[in-house]
Amino acid sequence: MGAEGQSTSNGPQPTANGRQDVPIITIDGPSGSGKGTIARIVASKLGWHMLDSGALYRLVALAGADRGLAPDDEAGHAQIAKALDVVFDAEPDGEERIWLEGVEVSARIRTEEAGAAASRVAAMPSVREGLLARQRAFAQPPGLVADGRDMGTIVFPHARLKIFLTASPEERARRRYKQLKDKGLSANLAALSLEIAERDRRDASRAVAPLKPADDAIVVDSTSMSIDAVVARVLELAAARFPVNR
Ligand code: DC
Repeated sequence: MGAEGQSTSNGPQPTANGRQDVPIITIDGPSGSGKGTIARIVASKLGWHMLDSGALYRLVALAGADRGLAPDDEAGHAQIAKALDVVFDAEPDGEERIWLEGVEVSARIRTEEAGAAASRVAAMPSVREGLLARQRAFAQPPGLVADGRDMGTIVFPHARLKIFLTASPEERARRRYKQLKDKGLSANLAALSLEIAERDRRDASRAVAPLKPADDAIVVDSTSMSIDAVVARVLELAAARFPVNR
């Protein structure tokens, strides 16, 4: 992985799906590192599209549970992943709305339970494979900010800017707690810390696409950085990598 500010050799190579023209920023990292928040703000400031890949895993797990699938039914979840009927939308005020098979599930997929279920289906190779083409299809002009665990390693290996955003486990648990409380959801800090540790362990130790920085990712530790400071850092790196957007 590159040190902060170090340039990488990513020239105009074709992306894994053959596109050469769309600028892509990948933001990977563990649960609660602030990836989602940062990716959303950066995408909005640049006027680019945004891929929240974690939402796709959450949706697959939710659809599986709703259909009564056993949590370890890989074939069943893979089928769902391939045919997922989902619409991402946003209110004029930026509030996200996600529709699964015509039913709004925006709040349901954001619970810790949905996150843990997502982490379990995300360990299934055929589920990951089933979501690959759908994720790559988000690479549309004028650009894409993709948030997840394997955006820079597997889904968009030729992205020109790869960020690996991290923070201490304690800080991540605190942020998650605040996020849930702000949404009016119940939360317990000690339980959240344990859940985050378990999710980190599962996401980092799985055989396929484990959570790890791409070799050419820039690691940003946001433990003692404000959201604004992280956004500024990513935009500064983006301006250097994508000069036409300056
Ligand atoms: O980012 P998130 O908390 O919404 O992700 C939920 C789970 O989905 C996470 O525990 C791991 C999995 N995930 C993944 O394996 N690969 C991704 N690109 C995104 C999420």
